Amino acid sequence: MQLTVIGTGYLGATHAACMAELGHEVLGVDVDPDKIAALQAGRVPFYEPGLEELLAKHVATGRLRFTTSYQEAAAFGEVHFSCVGTPQKKGEPGADLRYVDAVIDSLAPHLTRPTVLVGKSTVPVGTAQRLAERLAELAPAGAGAELAWNPEFLREGFAVEDTLRPDRLVFGLAGSGSRAEAVLRQVYAPLLEAEVPLVVADFPTAELVKTAANAFLATKISFINAMAEVCEAAGADVTLLSTSLSYDTRIGGRFLNAGVGFGGGCLPKDIRAFMARAGELGVDQALTFLREVDSINMRRRDRMVELAREHCEGSLLGRRIAVWGAAFKPDSDDIRDSPALNVAARLQLLGAEVTVYDPKAMDNARKMYPGLGYAASAVEAARGAEVVLHLTEWPEFRAIDPVELRPDVARPQIIDGRNALDRERWRAAGWTYRALGRP
Ligand code: UDX
Repeated sequence: MQLTVIGTGYLGATHAACMAELGHEVLGVDVDPDKIAALQAGRVPFYEPGLEELLAKHVATGRLRFTTSYQEAAAFGEVHFSCVGTPQKKGEPGADLRYVDAVIDSLAPHLTRPTVLVGKSTVPVGTAQRLAERLAELAPAGAGAELAWNPEFLREGFAVEDTLRPDRLVFGLAGSGSRAEAVLRQVYAPLLEAEVPLVVADFPTAELVKTAANAFLATKISFINAMAEVCEAAGADVTLLSTSLSYDTRIGGRFLNAGVGFGGGCLPKDIRAFMARAGELGVDQALTFLREVDSINMRRRDRMVELAREHCEGSLLGRRIAVWGAAFKPDSDDIRDSPALNVAARLQLLGAEVTVYDPKAMDNARKMYPGLGYAASAVEAARGAEVVLHLTEWPEFRAIDPVELRPDVARPQIIDGRNALDRERWRAAGWTYRALGRP
């Protein structure tokens, strides 16, 4: 099929390359000419394992092309995927829908033949209905220009895998008689043949699946982090607690790792936008627990700062601190709402001299926090440090030998903000090892 993918950020670039991999002819569309030039040259402007190879492969075959022209997109595509971002509004908890609206306003006037526009962005429930009406109003094809909602669930670091082998597909449709279902079944035919579960739903349910999934994941992380707070007070060990809980198949062990909590471009903003939308719908009480989920998450960062201060005898002024990790999670160079950088910046505000190292996120970190110190390796960051903070669990940090590192630091003190290092090994090497939620 001939598909367009509008918005070539993290979601769109991945979706475009994966749709080409499924055998479609794909045209990626973006308003940013620099991004389009990079993608057309086979370069991905961010770090995502496996994506650059896939993109380059399909640019080379000619099955994947890029443009800045909506007119060209409308002429080319039988189906259009809208993959633009829905960031948090400045100073407000709600989602900023200007990019989602702009796609309709820019594309619709060129739609002269029957088409399906498929929304993939995470939007407040009720948005799809409004967009469907606007699409039919602005498109010369009228009701022939149909909208469908097909939320994405991809995780950074596993984006290609999650797109080609998703846990499920959800199609949100306007109602009976819609052509969109048949069209989407054709787009995703290889996945449906591979028996990926499909849920066909109405617009509001499809929109809610995504927000509910992220709210659940955030709640699960904050649940175990709340247990970590209790463990710290009671002298218990949250890692043994979560391992024991994980054997209960009703609970499961995924997203049950206690630490400095969640960050990134999705979970924090999505739970806030969800609460704001529930308020507009008059059911704010249904989601007040998410405010607690958010607070527990932010308190973990406070606790990390407090622990660092304790390890510096109560004052951070002039103390040298190494921060391992800047990305919001491993296998990503994304620093949006990163707990690691948030903690690093706060320590610096309290007078510490902070040196950061991350395997992939250094350029992004430097741009956003030019005042922090940066080192070319984990060992260099740790040189002369009085405390080392492990805040993003990259495998290379687990591979560091505490015996070899010891002579490089001013004082052998490590605080594991991800409960991912081998405590016994660090202690055996003479280090003071502390972690969130462990005695
Ligand atoms: C998330 C959802 O998982 C994905 O389905 C959705 O489409 C987009 O949002 P992502 O933001 O890429 O994906 O990251 P995810 O893997 O969910 O991790 C989110 C944050 O939670 C990270 O900061 C991670 O470090 C943290 N986390 C995760 C924990 O603190 N503990 C855990 O046990 C798991």
